[in-house]
Order: sequence, then structure tokens, then C-alpha cells
Amino acid sequence: MDKIAILDFGSQFAHLLANRIRRLGVYSEIIDADTKAVDLKDYKGIIISGSPASVNAPDSPKADPKIYELGIPILGVCYGHQLTMKTLGGEVRKGSVGEYGLTKFTVQKNTGVLSKLEQKTYQVYASHFDSVGKLPEGFEALGSTPDDQFSATANEERRIYTLQFHPEVTHTECGMQILESFVEITGANRDWSIDKFIELELDSITKKVGDKKVFMLVSGGVDSSVAYVLLAKALGPERIYAMYVDTGFMRKNESEEIKKFLKTAGVTDLHVEYAAEEYFMALKNVYEPEQKRKIIGDKFLEIQRRVAQELNLNPDEWLLGQGTIYPDTIESGGTKNADKIKTHHNRVPEIEEMIRQGKIIEPIKELYKDEVRMVGRKLGLPDEMVDRHPFPGPGLAVRCLCAEVAESCSAEVEAEGYKTNVLPIQSVGVQGDERTYRHPAILEGDHDWEKLRKLSPQITNKYSEINRVMFAASGPITSISVTPSYLTEERIATLQEADQLVMDFIRETDKEGLVWQCPTVLLPISINAEGKESIVIRPVSSTEAMTANFTELPWDGVQRLAEKLMQLPNISAVFYDITNKPPGTIEWE
Ligand code: XMP
Repeated sequence: MDKIAILDFGSQFAHLLANRIRRLGVYSEIIDADTKAVDLKDYKGIIISGSPASVNAPDSPKADPKIYELGIPILGVCYGHQLTMKTLGGEVRKGSVGEYGLTKFTVQKNTGVLSKLEQKTYQVYASHFDSVGKLPEGFEALGSTPDDQFSATANEERRIYTLQFHPEVTHTECGMQILESFVEITGANRDWSIDKFIELELDSITKKVGDKKVFMLVSGGVDSSVAYVLLAKALGPERIYAMYVDTGFMRKNESEEIKKFLKTAGVTDLHVEYAAEEYFMALKNVYEPEQKRKIIGDKFLEIQRRVAQELNLNPDEWLLGQGTIYPDTIESGGTKNADKIKTHHNRVPEIEEMIRQGKIIEPIKELYKDEVRMVGRKLGLPDEMVDRHPFPGPGLAVRCLCAEVAESCSAEVEAEGYKTNVLPIQSVGVQGDERTYRHPAILEGDHDWEKLRKLSPQITNKYSEINRVMFAASGPITSISVTPSYLTEERIATLQEADQLVMDFIRETDKEGLVWQCPTVLLPISINAEGKESIVIRPVSSTEAMTANFTELPWDGVQRLAEKLMQLPNISAVFYDITNKPPGTIEWE
């Protein structure tokens, strides 16, 4: 099979490039950024991807400069664009303004990778601070944005192309056409497909597992179910022991539903381990989000080991199976140059060590959610299961924010026509490939989607202390205080009730299926009272979770929902999250 190499410099989007190239029917392989040029000579094309680093920093990661002499078509993206320019003799400098988010890209010359585009302006997604100040010899500009005259460049003779923006994210409206042109320039055969993936993966599972067996942690979600079905197809269900851990952080009544779903996936002998008490105990007085994640991830492993021991399973004869998908790895900082956004439950350090020892099998670890769903459908899983909204392994534990004290914020946020407040708590976000931990701002005033859609990114771009914006859905705010709280059964019970109301509302309202996922979040924030809490509704549209837009649901319906939520015990306000990803993540934690 012909292959295109993606040099990985740690961008959140590096593997999205691989996903897009696979969508175009070409096998793409993620390769360490420092791989020697000689080891890349058999690839049909090379894409140099983005990075959280700056090319001018002394210890920034570099590619082998000899790759430019291989004669293979090269596409540099974001950091890859800057690195190519600098390596070949151009200049990269700190831009006076960075570009984060959507910008307007005007095509000046529609040749090379832009040959499928017209000479007009397209919406593209950019995320960078540095920019190119001078082109290397032999290069010309093919297009520009208002803040960057060298947004797309080419050396046609050497078949080297570079882009400052990200063609791989769905927000770049001409992205797939650009990547398709690059694929054509490489001349690679388009012989990759989901069927091919399944065929190769079944073969690789059989080889990797050998005569061992697999202890599989299943959750009833799409990923672990698809991973289970692949393993069962390759090895036979009798060689897999499936266990579902009820952490106490599932949705209301979900454990029962999950058992039913797992039966349809072919898991008939399911071991259910009830562990809620143990989880709540381990999380007592824990406030910091990463610490919560680590405790939850470690506990999964501890329980799995304990059960395996009780069953007298010989550890040498068993591998641990997980339904890890690509964003889990990248967000956990699991590739060489990636920043850690958050530790997914299946990427705690002990699991990383087991991976190094070859004790873990993860059949879909290279895939994104959209591809996992395609594999699930091909393997015959019912739509009802394949189309389930994603749900994080640590469950409602991540969506139940904890705070010990108020965290004050100095930013005085101004937004035209709206009253604004900043909350004295922080939550995780992602910007320019890096983790952020910052405050949410709340807007009050007339509800107008058009204005709010513009204001939200303006606020997060302008105020560096703010990474989320919300609209107040339940009345005026006169006072705000923090209610110190950690994870308790009462709080999770309240969140379960709220989540059920929200999910019922989404099912009734979202007939077109715009909502990809809708976390409901409990905040230890008390409005106009002392000792109460608040609810956040966060509906998002996405295709693979690396980027997302907040969904604009009918506002009268949202207000009725907010009234119902306000009736729950101890709830003092309801907010509607109007942040895209980036700068917010989909989950709140
Ligand atoms: P964020 O919040 O980073 O989430 O935008 C991206 C996607 O990943 C899901 N998510 C998880 N899935 N284990 C999982 O299996 C986890 O620990 C985890 N944390 C976040 C999230 O729901 C979203 O779909």
C-alpha cells in the first residue's frame, strides 16, 4: 500500500491530518518528527504538521533537513510551514498579532495544492503566534490572510508546499480540497478503506495476542464496544473476559442500559463490578481536575488487577484490552511533543508503562470517533449503539467541578450591550495546542445568537484570563460566591437528575441530530444566595472532537429547560455555554 508520512511535532491536530488523508483513501502513518530522511524515502509524500513549540526557540523540535532533498512532495502545515521556511533560508518572526480561530484566506494563485480552489476568499482556521517574514529562494506566495501575507507558499519545481492555517480541521472550508490536491501531487494509490482497516487490524490482533487471552474493560460506549467486537472477531469471544466497572459516575439508570447494549455487541458473559463507594472514598477532599482523573484511572487498573487475582488469572497469559481512540492519547500528552491537555482514564502513567511492556491491546487507538463509528457499522453494530453520544470514561466525575476556595480574577470583561461577570473558579481549555486553566465569563442581556456568536471568540481572544463564555439562562445575577465542595454522592445525584432533564430535552428538540454531545455540568457556584450550586448546559456540534462549535438550540425551549433545572435541590442558576473548541474543551473540568 502506498503511504503518506505525517511528521508528528505534537500538534493536537497532527493525527487529524492522518484521519483526513485516510478519508481520501490513502494510508497515512504518523512518524516521529526526528526520523531520519533515509527512513522516509519510500513514502509517496510527507506532511510536516503543527506543534505547540516556536521554531525560533533554541530547543524547538526539528526535522532532518535532508527530507527536503528526497524529491518527495512535501506539505508543511502551521509549525511545519514555519519550519520549512526557516530551514530553507526564509525568516520567521514573532507576529505582532497572532491568529487564533477563523480568518479569511484569499487565494492569489490557484496552482499546486490550491489548484482545486478559485481565486477568491475562503474561511480557514489558524492557530499561531509566529509568522513568516521572508520567503526562501524559489518560493512564492499563493495566498494570504489579513494578518499574514505568506499564508500559503509553494516551490512548484521541488513540489514543496506550505500553509500557515490548518487544512485538516472542519472549520477550514477548503481544507479537504487542498489535501486532495496534495494527495494527487504525490501520485499515491488510493487503496485504504474501512474494510481494509478491519482486515489489517484483525490480522494484527491475532499476531499480537498470540495464544494469550484479553481482559477487556468495557463501558457500553461506542469505542470500547467496537474494540470488543474487533477482538471477539479476531480471537473468538471465549478468549475475552469482559468487565464493566460501575464507578457511580454513570448517567441515571445507565448501568442497566449499558448491560443491554453490551449484549447486542455480543458480550454475553459480562462481569459487573460495583465500585461506587470505593470511588467516592478515594476522591474525598480532592479538588484539582488532573488529580481526580489520575485517581479514577488508577482505580480502574487496581480493580481490574484485584478481580483478575480473585479469578486466579495468570498475568503472563493475559493482555489488558482498552477502547482507546486517538484523541485520548493526544490529549493526554501521549506523543513526544504534545502538551498534556488532560489525562484520559486509559492513559494514566501505569498504563503507559504496561504499553511499553507490550501488555495492552488497543485495536482502535489510531482512529477518531467518526472512523470508529464506520468500523462499528461495518461490523454490524446497531445504529442506536454506534450513534450514542460520546461519554468520558471517568463519567460525571469530570463534569462535577470541585473547588476548595474562590479563585479571584483581575479581568474586567466588557462586552457591548451585555452585563458581564467573571466566575471565581477555573476550568480546563485548549489554545494554540496548549492546556489552559482559566476563568469563565458570563453575559447577561438580550438573547441574540448572532451577536453572541461574534462576542464569544472576541472575549476569549482579548482577555487572556478567560477561556470560556456563557450566557445566563435563568435571570439576573446580583451576587456570586463559591460553595467549597468535592465529589459527593449528593452532588452526583443532582447532576444525574440535571443530565437526564437535559438529555430528554435534546432528544425532543434536536431532531436533525446537530448535537454531537451535550455535557451537563455542575458548578460549585452560588448565585444570589449562599451555599448553592449552578448548572451549565454545553451542547456542541463536532465530527471528531478535536474542534467543536457550540450548538444554538431554540432559546424558548432552553428557557423552559432552565426553569425545570432551577427546581432541582440547591440549584441557584443555569448557564448556557457559548464557547467553541478551541478555546474551550468539550468537557468542563
Ligand atoms: P474534550 O473535553 O477534551 O473532549 O474536548 C474530547 C472528547 O473526549 C471525551 N473525553 C474522554 N473520553 N475518557 C474518554 O474515553 C476520558 O477520560 C475522556 N475525557 C474526555 C469527551 O467527552 C469528548 O467527546
